[in-house]
Amino acid sequence: MSLQQLIETAYAMVADDKGLLAMDESTPTCHKRFAKLNIPQTEEFRRDYRELLVTTPGLNEAISGAILYDETIRQQTKDGKPFVQVLQEAGIIPGIKVDKSTTSLAGFPGEKITEGLDGLRERLAEYVQLGARFAKWRAVITIGEGTPSTGCLEANAHLLARYASLCQEAGLVPIVEPEVLMDGAHTLQRCFEVTEQTLRLVFAQLAAQRVLLEGMILKPNMIVPGLQCPNQNSVEDVADATVSCFRRVVPVAVPGVAFLSGGQSSELASERLNMMNTKYKTKVPWALSFSFARAIQQPGMEIWGGDSANVAAAQKSMYHRASCNRSARRGEYSAEMESATA
Ligand code: 13P
Repeated sequence: MSLQQLIETAYAMVADDKGLLAMDESTPTCHKRFAKLNIPQTEEFRRDYRELLVTTPGLNEAISGAILYDETIRQQTKDGKPFVQVLQEAGIIPGIKVDKSTTSLAGFPGEKITEGLDGLRERLAEYVQLGARFAKWRAVITIGEGTPSTGCLEANAHLLARYASLCQEAGLVPIVEPEVLMDGAHTLQRCFEVTEQTLRLVFAQLAAQRVLLEGMILKPNMIVPGLQCPNQNSVEDVADATVSCFRRVVPVAVPGVAFLSGGQSSELASERLNMMNTKYKTKVPWALSFSFARAIQQPGMEIWGGDSANVAAAQKSMYHRASCNRSARRGEYSAEMESATA
């Protein structure tokens, strides 16, 4: 895999105002979401649900790539076609989550570190064989009393950079995801400060580990107030703060910033992305895109509820949310788009 191919894949992931569908929930996370909707937490239902996602009619109109999970990249439709092939035939690039989730960081109460570097080179080689062209690693940063600590930020940034470097060696585009969580009562300003500090350290480590910025995608949080913060800022405040923070710290060479949704409502995630693109699309060097899991999947998962009779209605919802976010990339999303299909 040449560097040029790596760069082409990274640009293809954010091309044409499309975005990424994150469908890489680990089995425990998937089960947590199923449990809330009384969906049986079994391998069969996980497979059925993922088939519903990858076979959504028209998904490729708004989605450029899908992030799979170790179980999912090996699964097939009921008719025996590998999910990877279904995606490839639709022109959707398959990707893979390669971190092994978070654990407590020793010596730093309340803070997390992501695992998965051991044996990663070998796992990446297998994922390439299975058809993946990009990968994802998520670091989790918690805002709290006295956190995040510099020790936690540095350790996570270093791991993200080591992971990214291994991906590029294997010919995979790394999605670098340092997620500053929305949990808590902190203000938008505090989220700004923590995200800025996080991204500074991440890009310093990416440089130190010789990661090619043109061949990666950044997957960050938006700059938002904590979910319990009494002052919930306007959509425009969030868009302004997010772009202003990233202008300070995200190098021009990075092809795209693909936001996670992080527990915002589907509509709010679309509104905020739309506002960023309305005001700044032509004024920033990187694509302002999306890599949503919950903000695309949640309404459709609720409609499905584990019942095969609801597959078509759930797929309609998945298609709708993906389309809304493509419109948001163009600054053409509006509340009427929601009522039109309600
Ligand atoms: P959410 O959009 O639900 O935050 O998920 C994105 C993701 O991939 C988290 O790692």
